[in-house]
Amino acid sequence: MTEQDAIYSQGFNVRFEYPLCYTHGVFSPDSDLLASVMDRKKENRKHKAMACVDGGVAEAHPSLCADIQRYARQYGHIFELVAPPEVLPGGEDAKLGWDEVRRIMAALGDTHMCRQSFVLAVGGGGILDMVGFAASLVHRGLRTIRIPTTVLAQNDAGVGVKTGMNEHDAKNFIGSFAPPFAVINDSTFLTTLDQKHWIGGVAEAVKVALIKDADFFEFLHDSAVALRDRDMDCMETCIRRCAAIHLDHIRSAGDPFEFGTARPLDFGHWCAHELEVMSGYRFGHGQAVSVGIALDSYHAMRLGLLSERELKRIVECFTKAGLPVWTELLSQQSGDGGLQVLEGLEKFREHLGGTLTVTLPKSIGHSCEVNAIDAAIVRDGIEFLGSIPSR
Ligand SMILES: NC(=O)c1ccc[n+]([C@@H]2O[C@H](COP(=O)([O-])OP(=O)(O)OC[C@H]3O[C@@H](n4cnc5c(N)ncnc54)[C@H](O)[C@@H]3O)[C@@H](O)[C@H]2O)c1
Ligand SMILES: [Zn+2]
Repeated sequence: MTEQDAIYSQGFNVRFEYPLCYTHGVFSPDSDLLASVMDRKKENRKHKAMACVDGGVAEAHPSLCADIQRYARQYGHIFELVAPPEVLPGGEDAKLGWDEVRRIMAALGDTHMCRQSFVLAVGGGGILDMVGFAASLVHRGLRTIRIPTTVLAQNDAGVGVKTGMNEHDAKNFIGSFAPPFAVINDSTFLTTLDQKHWIGGVAEAVKVALIKDADFFEFLHDSAVALRDRDMDCMETCIRRCAAIHLDHIRSAGDPFEFGTARPLDFGHWCAHELEVMSGYRFGHGQAVSVGIALDSYHAMRLGLLSERELKRIVECFTKAGLPVWTELLSQQSGDGGLQVLEGLEKFREHLGGTLTVTLPKSIGHSCEVNAIDAAIVRDGIEFLGSIPSR
């Protein structure tokens, strides 16, 4: 510091709040939930809105776009659709490249949307990430209402504060922190999911249960077969508890925008993200997460953080639910003869900000952070998990 230097200290807080609502038939004429959510600030004005719909959802629910338009007409005193719903290719493809993002941004610009306008994003985590990202850039952030349509999006991807796009050969390499205006979980959408996306989200529920809630893990372990067999009551309980733990973490763990290096909700994800990239995104996110959790749980067992019995129960929970604990991708070698999946650790370290911080369970329901992952233990874990029958 020289005498000419001066430092003024600047600081302020911004409060974010958004409701997470549960309903059935969100666009049905007798439900005023969505309209009242849009009107929750009582601004006494008619808002512009654009609906962006996941193509897979539009196909499985052929009347959806017409239902949205009819709903808008019915609640025309609260909002008007500036254009017919945009139907976009869903899944991981939504997150690859800028073409769709630019298209959405152009549509938002052409229709003169303002910062009080609404983007309704209806779809799986891929569409919510991409549409949320585009909406977070236009005028530095429009209001997004997420209507997640997969289990994983209802209990994890859709309820938090982040958006992400795949670039530079890395999962979620770009993205933004953009809390939604509201989230509406409608379980009617879940009835049309294929089995992969029905059960995939259960892996995220096991994730939060293992590090935060032993009772919830018991529920998931005991309900694994019912969840696999599409028991809707069981799935609704699974979604509500998982989403509540997720929200609680964001609200009260002290780092909603992830400035620090600890990332508990990314337990199992260093491996999961690399497996997704290695598979060209054919391996589902939920399935990759169950493998990643199984591998890191094996690690935790070897470090004395979990008992062999606890590891067995975790593996049992996944296999009974029909989620994988192993994939042949785990054995794939990189150019230098090492394990390809270990490259995920390096990407994870960079993403966190230089210091590797991996969350592991410490007895079921609790967690701790470690700053190193032992490649030899990862190899043993892959061998161990590979020897487990899938059912
Ligand atoms: N932003 C976050 O905080 C966050 C957190 C976790 C995961 N994610 C992301 O979420 C993505 C995974 O999302 P996902 O598992 O929800 O799947 P997805 O968005 O990849 O969709 C899977 C497939 O299901 C179809 N689909 C969606 N809803 C349907 C329905 N109701 N009926 C029939 N078909 C339907 C889609 O068209 C798509 O083909 C990943 O890219 C992941 O990185 C983001
Ligand atoms: Zn995840």
